[in-house]
Amino acid sequence: MAKIKTEDKELELEDGVPIADTCEQLGVPLSCREGVCGVCRIEVLEGMENLSPKTEKEEEMGLGDNERLACQCKINSGEIKIKF
Ligand code: FES
Repeated sequence: MAKIKTEDKELELEDGVPIADTCEQLGVPLSCREGVCGVCRIEVLEGMENLSPKTEKEEEMGLGDNERLACQCKINSGEIKIKF
């Protein structure tokens, strides 16, 4: 099992799955789910190494080193801590 934590909540999810739905349950806003609108931008405070590599859409978005789009990444295993 993998885990996503925020300041005051945490949820578990299966290894290797997209994080979008779990992030949404934690309060991250999602809209297009296609890496276009940018509303799902999250800051990864811990565990960036546990996420899949950045997608082409994320590269095009010009994210900071510690930022990802919640609709674009999968968690390999382990924990991440996010802020949004
Ligand atoms: S929901 Fe639009 S970029 Fe992620």
